[in-house]
Formats: sequence, C-alpha cells, structure tokens
Amino acid sequence: MIIKSSTKEYIVNIEKDFKFVEMLKKKENALFVIDRNLYNLYYRILFQDIQKEKIYIIEAIETNKTIESALSICEVMTKIPAKRNVHLLSFGGGIVQDITGFVANILYRGISWTFVPTTLLASCDSCIGGKTSLNYKQYKNLLGTFYPPDQIYICSQFFNTLSDYDFKSGLGEIVKFNIMYGEQGITKIENNIEQLLARNKETLDEFVEKSLIFKKGFIEEDEFDKGIRIHLNFAHTFGHAFEAVSNYMIPHGTAVAIGTLVANRISFERGLLKEDIVTRIETIIKKIINVDLLQTSFNLDKIVDAMRKDKKQINDNLTAVLLYGNMQLKVYHDLEKKEIKQAISFVSNILK
Ligand SMILES: NC(=O)c1ccc[n+]([C@@H]2O[C@H](COP(=O)([O-])OP(=O)(O)OC[C@H]3O[C@@H](n4cnc5c(N)ncnc54)[C@H](O)[C@@H]3O)[C@@H](O)[C@H]2O)c1
Ligand SMILES: [Zn+2]
Repeated sequence: MIIKSSTKEYIVNIEKDFKFVEMLKKKENALFVIDRNLYNLYYRILFQDIQKEKIYIIEAIETNKTIESALSICEVMTKIPAKRNVHLLSFGGGIVQDITGFVANILYRGISWTFVPTTLLASCDSCIGGKTSLNYKQYKNLLGTFYPPDQIYICSQFFNTLSDYDFKSGLGEIVKFNIMYGEQGITKIENNIEQLLARNKETLDEFVEKSLIFKKGFIEEDEFDKGIRIHLNFAHTFGHAFEAVSNYMIPHGTAVAIGTLVANRISFERGLLKEDIVTRIETIIKKIINVDLLQTSFNLDKIVDAMRKDKKQINDNLTAVLLYGNMQLKVYHDLEKKEIKQAISFVSNILK
C-alpha cells in the first residue's frame, strides 16, 4: 500500500513472517531503536546478531515520551560519521513511533526512517498519518510534528506476545474504524470478533489492512488535520479524557472503545442513532474491554474537566464528532456537560 503525503510517498508492507528484518539489518549507517520489552522477547530470533553499538533500547512508558529521550537518540545518531545519510530503524508501538518520528524529523532537518510497528494499535492505525508527539510537563502529546516514515513493515506475528490489555487496546481502534465505516463494518466485526479475539492471523491481517485503507482516505485528503481528518477524532475526545483521568492506566485504544460507547449514547439520546445499532455496538465493545481497568475512572466531573483541557477543544462549549443518521460523521460544537455525564453514567453501568 502506498500513502501519498506532501513531502513523499511512503510504503506500507504487510509481511507474512520476520524475513524482512534480515534485509533491514543490512542497512548501513543505521541505528536501531527498539522497545525494551520487544528486545527481550525477540532477542534470540531477531536482534542478537546486531552490533550492540547500533542498538538503542528504550522503555515504552509515557514518561519516556519526552524531548530528553528524543535528544538522547539524536546524540547517539550524531556519532555516526555519515551525517545526513544516517538511517533510523525503529521497532515498537506508538510510544517508540512518537519519539523516533520526532527524532527523524528534527535531526539534520529530516533523515530517512523505517518503522516496524509491533503493537496492534500502531499497526492498524498510528503507523500512517505522520503524527509525531512528545509529552511536555503534565501535557500529553503537546509537542509534535508531521513526519511519516519512508517505509513501514507490518507483521502480525508480533501480536502473539502482546498482553491481553495491549492486544484489546488495538482491537478498540479496529472496532472504531469499522463502526465509522457504517452498518457493513459493524456486521463484519460481529461476524469476526471471536476470530479476532483468538488472534487468528489471517483475520488480523485482513482487518489491519482494511483499517489502514480506511484511514488513508482521510489523511491523504487532509494531511495536516485542518479539515475532514477531524472525523478520525471520533470517540477520541471522550477517550483522551478516560486516559488522562486513569493516569494512563487505560490504554489508548481501550479508552477509544469506551469513548465510542459514550459518543453513541449521546447520539441515541439526541435521536441521531437508532437503538438497535447502538445496542449492537455495545455488545461488540463489551467483549474487548477489560473491566478491571475501569475501577477508578468514572468520576464524572473529572472526566468532563479533562475533556475541556483536550487540545482540540476550541471554545467553551464542548466539541465532539458524533455519528448520525445512516452512520455519517459530523462535528458537533454544542455538547452539554449534563448530557455527557448522563452518557458516561449509562456506559459505566453497562460495563459493570
Ligand atoms: N502518532 C500517532 O498518530 C498516535 C496515534 C495513537 C496513539 N499514539 C500514541 O501511541 C502510544 C500507545 O501506543 P501503543 O498502544 O502502540 O503501545 P505502546 O508503545 O505504549 O506499548 C504498549 C506495551 O506493549 C509492549 N510491546 C510492544 N510491542 C510488543 C510485542 N510485539 N509483544 C509484547 N509487548 C509489546 C510495550 O513494551 C509496552 O509495554 C501512546 O503514547 C499514544 O499517545 C500515537
Ligand atoms: Zn486513536
């Protein structure tokens, strides 16, 4: 799959096994930045024959998604004599992607970068679109740029070692894309949810590719998030608030899945969506949420407060993307605190 951006076209390769890694190891003047857990899990089969000085290991935690981490990688890369001809290869999920994308963008005003997403979330969603983000002080994703990789290699074999939490987080984004797609997407998820939960490789490959094709339509039309791309924010205004209030214990895709439930409840209460559709979606999402994550996260005032702080909120009324009618998406700028709280209460009850 090829993605067009203003600076380049970049390529998404969907691989059936790990053979592509051998080819990546041959790149000259390259630094491998690898997620620590991934490095330990795949040391024997993938990484043991790479020279130690060509490897930078990073722990994938939010507190490492900082300018200091980015500068520390820059420091190592500037020691490679080739300068502008250096190559960055990163392996990991969204955290590694966000940090290394930022580095690839600022170092020498842009170096060549290959990204190997190893979580389901990064594979089905974040690897395309070119956003790089760092956290600053208490603010999540406050610093950032647009800078896509030159090459992306997706291999669903990596998903076998994901924790149940991280795997279901990725499913959250897949389910969200299919809901945005419309009734057909919902039926498709209903028919395949058990296969997805069982981590069936063919099913995952199919849904990852479909998710990326769906996202591609938005990012190619509005690369810099000034127009139609805002629709990809569906469920995220609420999701970001759940992530923040849980102190990032709720992973991103799971927060998006909960956000989908809240958005749809508001649509239903406003008469924008029919009950049977909303209930069908609730049945699917209940299967992909680990309820133990939710214990402290339903403080209504805190959630609404966190929504107000979201950087996409532009004025006093709360803004969110909602579904209406025949599953179309639209930005609503008039969301009231009261209806949001009611929807969150409802969702908290059905998830008990
Ligand atoms: N740039 C974007 O467009 C974008 C979009 C969505 C989310 N994000 C960011 O992505 C981050 C979340 O990323 P994520 O959900 O991909 O996960 P992550 O990078 O936070 O990793 C989650 C966990 O999975 C582990 N892991 C990674 N690959 C593994 C594998 N194959 N097997 C076993 N464990 C593995 C990691 O070590 C970590 O413990 C957040 O910081 C979020 O803000 C960025
Ligand atoms: Zn998301």
